[in-house]
Amino acid sequence: MFTKQFERRVYLALGVLVFAIALGGSFGVYVLWPSNREAGYEPKQPIPYSHKLHAGELKIDCLYCHAEAEKGPHATIPSVATCMKCHEQVQTKDKDGNLTEGTKTLLDHWEKKEPIVWNKVHDLADFVYFDHSRHMAADLTCQECHGPVETFEHMRREYGMKMSWCLDCHREELSEDDPARQRGLETRGPIHCTACHR
Ligand code: HEC
Ligand code: HEC
Ligand code: HEC
Ligand code: HEC
Ligand code: HEC
Repeated sequence: MFTKQFERRVYLALGVLVFAIALGGSFGVYVLWPSNREAGYEPKQPIPYSHKLHAGELKIDCLYCHAEAEKGPHATIPSVATCMKCHEQVQTKDKDGNLTEGTKTLLDHWEKKEPIVWNKVHDLADFVYFDHSRHMAADLTCQECHGPVETFEHMRREYGMKMSWCLDCHREELSEDDPARQRGLETRGPIHCTACHR
């Protein structure tokens, strides 16, 4: 028979082992879990909406659908009503004369007055402060941060948007005659921690 003291040691050793496996396992999951914060992330959407067609070939202005980008922190996704300004009339059919799957889904949501639940492509951590309107006021183009969207058949993340990505731009030194220098700026954007972490 084992002594009580020895038994206690066996239990302790087993406990440590179980703890180590649990910790190692969760670390592995954390490292290997597919990240939605990487460049190239391209979630499937409920409707095959094409920026290449609408913003590229049809040349609809980005702000026609994302006007909030100039007004506040979020660019926001347009409602079905915005789509229906055209799609009340424009209804794509396949070669057999039936409505395409995408058009059917769109009309279905409109009839039932149901919003389309798009999957988020960009989603910064909650502890980061970001405001579109401030960047639009500084005359940045959408493409500087989102890539050549007018060529995207499916929306994807062009950049990972990690902290270093923001800072690479913010750290760029302003030329001597840049008007932003009048406001005390020396680099393109602020680089102190509390600008983005409030
Ligand atoms: C006709 C309306 C329309 C126009 C015009 C349009 N978009 Fe969009 N945009 C959408 C819709 C709908 C979504 C959501 C579906 C998707 O992600 O494909 C979206 C998604 C996006 C997203 C990703 C949102 C997220 O989830 O992170 C970005 C970035 C974006 N648009 C940028 C642009 C830019 C830049 C332009 C101009 C070159 C533009 N859009 C023109 C309708 C439009
Ligand atoms: C300085 C970089 C930058 C510029 C310029 C920029 N965006 Fe964004 N955009 C971002 C970031 C960062 C996010 C993620 C925001 C978040 O998750 O809170 C984002 C998110 C979005 C989204 C998702 C919805 C939202 O607001 O979170 C859309 C749509 C979008 N941008 C469209 C546009 C359009 C259209 C333009 C041009 C009119 C534009 N963006 C200009 C960086 C930028
Ligand atoms: C300014 C007009 C306009 C707006 C606004 C608009 N579209 Fe379109 N859309 C078109 C045109 C034009 C076509 C091409 C029709 C064709 O070739 O048959 C089209 C085609 C489509 C198709 C069919 C693609 C296919 O092959 O099945 C879908 C789906 C679609 N749009 C979704 C949307 C959604 C979702 C919105 C709102 C976010 C939207 N559209 C806003 C004009 C518009
Ligand atoms: C391509 C360049 C560029 C990128 C990328 C960029 N910014 Fe900026 N940012 C600017 C410019 C330009 C300004 C405006 C500076 C001014 O004139 O006041 C600015 C200003 C800001 C401000 C201060 C304005 C305010 O609302 O208080 C914050 C915060 C900010 N950016 C956050 C971010 C974050 C977070 C990211 C990354 C997710 C980012 N920026 C990516 C160029 C950029
Ligand atoms: C221009 C904006 C900006 C500035 C300035 C900034 N950060 Fe960040 N920070 C970010 C963004 C964006 C992320 C990543 C969020 C995400 O992954 O979605 C981040 C993430 C972090 C994280 C989490 C770990 C990581 O890397 O994801 C820490 C910690 C952090 N920042 C600390 C700081 C400190 C300390 C400073 C000042 C020296 C600072 N930040 C300045 C934008 C900024």
